[in-house]
Amino acid sequence: MRKLAAGNWKMNGTGASLSEAQALIAAQPSPACEMLLCPPATLVARLADVARGSALMVGGQDCHTNDTGAHTGDISAAMLADAGATSVILGHSERRADHGETDALVHAKALAARKAGLVAIVCIGETLAERDAGTTLDVIAAQMASVPEDSTAAGLVIAYEPVWAIGTGRTPTIDQIAEVHAFLRARLTERIGAAAAGVRLLYGGSVKPSNAGEIFAVPHVDGALVGGASLKAADFGAIVAALSAS
Ligand code: 13P
Repeated sequence: MRKLAAGNWKMNGTGASLSEAQALIAAQPSPACEMLLCPPATLVARLADVARGSALMVGGQDCHTNDTGAHTGDISAAMLADAGATSVILGHSERRADHGETDALVHAKALAARKAGLVAIVCIGETLAERDAGTTLDVIAAQMASVPEDSTAAGLVIAYEPVWAIGTGRTPTIDQIAEVHAFLRARLTERIGAAAAGVRLLYGGSVKPSNAGEIFAVPHVDGALVGGASLKAADFGAIVAALSAS
């Protein structure tokens, strides 16, 4: 399986940020892992132009369930593909919190992504209250409802992002990451069968150059979904290098 370093720029970045992507391509011309940046929708086509012919892939941060229609402000998976995206982040905890996205909606979006030929990067993860209550694995198990049962290894990536680790500088212990990722692989196998063995399971939440190496050594961690540290070519490039060496 080819590991994946994915960057989520969230609601950050303007045309000036494309220079960071250019610097990343220059620093990592042929990494041993896949390298993906998901900029805001306004930059997808421009980043795809910058990335053309390089190892850098481009993704979206959300898509609608429909291909076209009267949905002001939304964009479809087909539109992302047309703009040069090859994947799309779905069900990020910020969208679940800001827009009330449910597992059922994320499931429908994952089907729309597949129809457009995009890899669905489905995000799951517990809140701090759920972690403290000892219900993390129950929450993860329930969120598997976001994943279509007939998903393929090539068409699906799952990102485990504990909500309390996002943008906080706090990360779970290595043992906690290992516990969730092993559980995730087992539950995914129950849900989609043998294809689960080839699905990339990413860890996300305060991944930085300084902690990437030890996180990438954890069994069933097949890459990272990186927020803040993906905005700077030097930081994201160092994370790509750590994953390539793992
Ligand atoms: P940070 O890396 O900034 O903690 O964000 C993680 C994240 O939410 C990626 O989707």
